[in-house]
Amino acid sequence: MSDLKGLLGEAVGAAFAAEGLSADYGRVTVSDRPDLADFQSNGALAAAKAAGRNPREIAAGVVERLKDDPRLAALEIAGPGFINMRLTGAALTERAAEIAADRRSGAPTVAEQRRVLIDYAGPNVAKPMHVGHLRSSIIGESLKRLFRFLGDEVLGDAHFGDWGFQMGLLIVAASDENPGWARVAEADEGEIEGLGLEVLDRLYPMAAARAKEDKDYRDRARRATMELQSGKAGYLRLWRHFVEVSRTALKREFKALDVEFDLWKGESDADPLIAQMVEDLKTKGLLELDQGAQIVRVAREGETKKKKLDDGTVVVVPTPDPLLVISSEGSAMYGTTDLATILDRRQSFDPHLVLYVVDQRQADHFEQVFRASYLVGYAEQGQLEHLGFGTMNGPDGKPFKTREGGVLKLHDLIEMAREKARQRLHEAGLGAELSPEDFEATAHKVAVAAIKFADLQNFRGTSYIFDLDRFTSFEGKTGPYLLYQSVRIKSLLRKAEAEGHAAGPVVVEEPAERELALTLDAFDAALSEAYAKRAPNFLAEHAYRLAQSFSKFYAACPVLIAPTPELRASRLNLAQTTLRQMDTVLALLGIATPERM
Ligand code: ARG
Repeated sequence: MSDLKGLLGEAVGAAFAAEGLSADYGRVTVSDRPDLADFQSNGALAAAKAAGRNPREIAAGVVERLKDDPRLAALEIAGPGFINMRLTGAALTERAAEIAADRRSGAPTVAEQRRVLIDYAGPNVAKPMHVGHLRSSIIGESLKRLFRFLGDEVLGDAHFGDWGFQMGLLIVAASDENPGWARVAEADEGEIEGLGLEVLDRLYPMAAARAKEDKDYRDRARRATMELQSGKAGYLRLWRHFVEVSRTALKREFKALDVEFDLWKGESDADPLIAQMVEDLKTKGLLELDQGAQIVRVAREGETKKKKLDDGTVVVVPTPDPLLVISSEGSAMYGTTDLATILDRRQSFDPHLVLYVVDQRQADHFEQVFRASYLVGYAEQGQLEHLGFGTMNGPDGKPFKTREGGVLKLHDLIEMAREKARQRLHEAGLGAELSPEDFEATAHKVAVAAIKFADLQNFRGTSYIFDLDRFTSFEGKTGPYLLYQSVRIKSLLRKAEAEGHAAGPVVVEEPAERELALTLDAFDAALSEAYAKRAPNFLAEHAYRLAQSFSKFYAACPVLIAPTPELRASRLNLAQTTLRQMDTVLALLGIATPERM
């Protein structure tokens, strides 16, 4: 099965080829003038330019070859040589019926199934999650669902930050705080009592701030990190406790967001592979000693940048910076565990593709890690992709902060959105008949839809301004608007069922029916584009277009009181088909829809 756009493109391509021109000129696009045409081809212009010929003349040749295509009701050359095409009602009917009968709503799977690992969310032990982790979770979850839907074998991994300097900081802070915990740390004796989430939430920011000012403290934390990594028993026990407490809390937050991982591996899981990795780097002659640290140089010949030294002089240095593998204290660093994780993943899953959904500001880090892994032979060029994203900003255009100037915790953000959603539901007179539990569940879905859709409707690289008022509105391009449309169709279908009406064969005739059928057809293209660019915003755009096409259809074409029973059955089918595709797209965005509201 294939979409109309693709099929027409093939036909137009064949016509170009028959004219002695490249079939690539045959690509068709959805017309930007739906009043004049359904699809258009602009290929004659490009072909004419390349061949030094008249575009209208080329278009005329192509049109001549297409004029007997039974799917086309009208075929015209417009302006300098655009080819405008309008489909017959029969062609649209046939395609709509195909989508109606297809559980996948007209979306084929990929020709070649791949193993794909998606590294996203990346929360850290004890550090509260902030909006950067939120974006990564939302985008990564959507990509995971999209790749899986299209047929790839996909694993989502949270890549828990549980092995770096912050662990040493916590060990020192906990030891200073409580003699019992200090005894566990130093002597591996006694129980760990009273060390819960609130304590971690308090200790970590305190320790991080102190380490910035106090060199002795910082050195203690560095040493503790190294000793933890070398396997000191009491440190390991305390560390396991931190990890457990944090993970339990994080899992709750992810559940609230409908984000689910297949693997909950940590940076620490790569630790056992570091020794082998260091051996591999040595064998390949890649490891160098540099002021007590061990590094891998990843810059190629001639790749340099200017760097200003502390005394103001400017020097030319290689870029990217070398990857720091083992610090002068002997600790594994962020890049160390990332490189070893690539090896770990290769041994356990052997992915064709690894996608890292991480803040754009970590681009240099990934460049270093990827290059090192190509050099040592852990991956091939093109197998590792960093999918950077922009920031979620406050009204001042800077990364979002709370009113007090702190980082906004994910938990508080969700609660804020939920409160706003309750208010919005009341304002709109929605959910009044729901039981208190159902109302809460609906408010939660509205909140999650608001947050996720606001994020996913932008290309991931774009930063956007957090505006909860706008995001939670039931009008405009918002998650709640889409939920409302989905619920509206569900209620229409319930009513039809109650009145004893069933869906029947589709007939596409009216302009609003035609537009709806064309939008249903566009699902396939939206999926392909989102997949190729690793960009869920194309799905978000499609969901919105589908809701709008349905709205127009519903306003123009009476369903329950359609002029004939056949027409009613056809329109019920269109409504049902729209609903299924809508809920499928929303699910790919990670958005669940309620039954009623
Ligand atoms: N924990 C990191 C952070 O909070 C993100 C981890 C991203 N993934 C990775 N493989 N480095 O910044």
